[in-house]
Amino acid sequence: MNSWNEGYFTDSTYTYGYYRELSPNFMRWCLLLNGILAPEITEESCHCELGFGQGVAANIHAAATPGKFFGTDFNPSHAITANELAEASGADAKFFEDSFEEFSKRDDLPQFDSISLHGIWSWVSAENRRHIMEFARRHLKSGGMLYNSYNCLPGWAPIAPLRELLAMYDKYSGKGGAAKGRISEALKFVEEMLAANPAYLNLAPNFAKTFEVLKKNNPDYLAHEYLNLDWDLMYFTDVAEIAQQAKLNFAATAIPIEIVEKLNISEPAIEFLRKIENPIVKEQARDYFINRQFRKDIFVRGIRKINSVERLDKILEMRYVLLSPADNVPLKFKTTGGDVKLSEEIYRPILEFLQEDNYRPKNFAEYLKRNPAQDSKGILEAIIILVNNNNIMPCQSEVAVNLVKKSCDKLNAHICERAKFEDAINFLVSPLTGLGVAVTRFQQLFLSQYRAGDKTSDKLAASAWKIISRQGQRLIHEGKTLQTPEENLAHMEKLTDDFLKTQLPIFKALLI
Ligand SMILES: C[S@@+](CC[C@H](N)C(=O)[O-])C[C@H]1O[C@@H](n2cnc3c(N)ncnc32)[C@H](O)[C@@H]1O
Repeated sequence: MNSWNEGYFTDSTYTYGYYRELSPNFMRWCLLLNGILAPEITEESCHCELGFGQGVAANIHAAATPGKFFGTDFNPSHAITANELAEASGADAKFFEDSFEEFSKRDDLPQFDSISLHGIWSWVSAENRRHIMEFARRHLKSGGMLYNSYNCLPGWAPIAPLRELLAMYDKYSGKGGAAKGRISEALKFVEEMLAANPAYLNLAPNFAKTFEVLKKNNPDYLAHEYLNLDWDLMYFTDVAEIAQQAKLNFAATAIPIEIVEKLNISEPAIEFLRKIENPIVKEQARDYFINRQFRKDIFVRGIRKINSVERLDKILEMRYVLLSPADNVPLKFKTTGGDVKLSEEIYRPILEFLQEDNYRPKNFAEYLKRNPAQDSKGILEAIIILVNNNNIMPCQSEVAVNLVKKSCDKLNAHICERAKFEDAINFLVSPLTGLGVAVTRFQQLFLSQYRAGDKTSDKLAASAWKIISRQGQRLIHEGKTLQTPEENLAHMEKLTDDFLKTQLPIFKALLI
């Protein structure tokens, strides 16, 4: 290849996304759920993220996880942003601008406890996939974990031609230019084609519906997703076989709820899968029942199993923190298996327990002591579902929290400061969980003004309004831009009221 970008779309930078699955803590917890031990996370640990994009997740995890962090992304703009964030947090992190090939050949990198990559595998060439696996082969410790996510078959099979149409139109139109224009032209082409009702729609009835959802996405995301030279779909078995060559075994998915099979697949499907002995065949067959399009896999280099009693004890002994008021946690939701309705009788007391003492993190051994009639398996299921739905999160040890508190504070202060001028990174980092937390720009502004001394709703609203009005910005409420300063201030005060009453106690519990 004579161009550094190797066919990867680099005409715009990537979105500022955050994915908890990239976190060494979250990976460890998913493995524990499956009865598999991963290396302890200590000050000596080393972690690495490949293709970190803007580096939001990489920096959140570098600030919030004990040990050293490394990463690479060949887009120089991405590497600059990632290193700026690392400088702000003061975390022990080094982010490179190497291609995967260059990175896999370096001799100055340590052995890693975890390697993670999200949104990479399907969008790079087979050669780059080989470099990634070579990197894991050379640099992952025994017992270490690798997280990889990818578009997969069979779920994508009927709608893969949609991507083909977008990329084909873009390639042959030869117009080039900014991502937004290219994507909008390609979308227009497909829209017009669908309006003319091609016979293919009879074979793939979800095609038009998928297109409707797809076209509403951010153009930069769409450009990176659909305008790359490479876009390869694989079956799980293909990836598992490639990983085996680097001595990596499939260990778990990073979708906790999948372990509660009855919520995801039907009784006959459970019965069918139960009879399959080979774990790889079983996992692949499950994708057909789920009609899976995207996999979130955790591989390990050498599996260390523990028995179900030890697993249960370890999960119950960990502390968990509630991420929203107990009453706001929805007990109805959808899974791949359909609608789920959780029992009020079981879940409300658990959520109220977690909300007690200003959301102080608690372990479920404590809950079971108070409620001896509760069945520990039912509690385990509740923990899995609530973590899966991002209602609660497991916490790090107190030792780990103390090690990372300072770098998290510094990163949060930096992100909140940036929020004065841009609405880019909609996350903050919790030293308690070691994970990112979704936060709006206004919450970031309120938090920094609160820390600066504006403790009341009206003062917070006035200072936030001063910041945005100076930049000619206005609040939007119910799709309408609020015009006058009075209207803006009145609405801002509603937001600050909610911040003080609802969000601030949770931020405090999360040690943000
Ligand atoms: C779809 S983005 C995902 C970014 C990030 N992981 C996320 O999920 O937000 C893919 C990233 O991989 C980087 N990338 C693609 N090919 C690469 C290569 N050969 N070497 C290094 N980085 C690469 C791109 O610059 C881009 O930031």
